[in-house]
Amino acid sequence: MNKVIHCAVRRDLTRFRAALDQFADGDRARAAALLRAWQNFDAQLTEHHEGEHEIAWPALKAMGVADTSISTFDDEHHAMAADLAATRATMEQLGRSASRADADAAAAAMAALETTTVTHLDHEEQETEPVLGANPEHPAYKQMSKQFSRRSGIGAAGTFFAWMEDGASAEERAALRESVPGPVLAIIGGLFGRRYRKEVAPVWATTGSF
Ligand SMILES: [Fe+2]
Repeated sequence: MNKVIHCAVRRDLTRFRAALDQFADGDRARAAALLRAWQNFDAQLTEHHEGEHEIAWPALKAMGVADTSISTFDDEHHAMAADLAATRATMEQLGRSASRADADAAAAAMAALETTTVTHLDHEEQETEPVLGANPEHPAYKQMSKQFSRRSGIGAAGTFFAWMEDGASAEERAALRESVPGPVLAIIGGLFGRRYRKEVAPVWATTGSF
């Protein structure tokens, strides 16, 4: 599940970079669309990392991940939060002006955010996946999965599923179905993912496929 979320984060960063590069000066509709997609991405990444801090870190510690690794993850999260805030300001500015100069500023902030984020995701995967893979029956792992599934309301879960599935590879979809039962994904994602599919997914349809 964590890997599927990480893939969605990497995919969105790639999409934003391409979309900002292609941005045409004065295209107000596109600036508004990109701001909408940004607000979803910003919320998903913030929620993911706050959830990790509260739920995943204690579980990983219980499974034997060193305190020093966890505190490095937290440092990386703080760096990401700072870059998210900086990028948020540039995307909001682009939403107001729709100028090519502001698209350049947003592209520069997005590039920095991508570097910080991808560095962290790679590091987290390297350190945690062997531990998670070796302990599928660990009580802390089971507890963590339950806590994550109870954390968000049904509406937020629908958006979350729709976002993860948008542009996902067959492999990622299969991995998602291993974590979330098919009927749950179909019903919650189907009903409560509508807003994402209506307001955000079309933003990427015009940038080509990723
Ligand atoms: Fe993380």
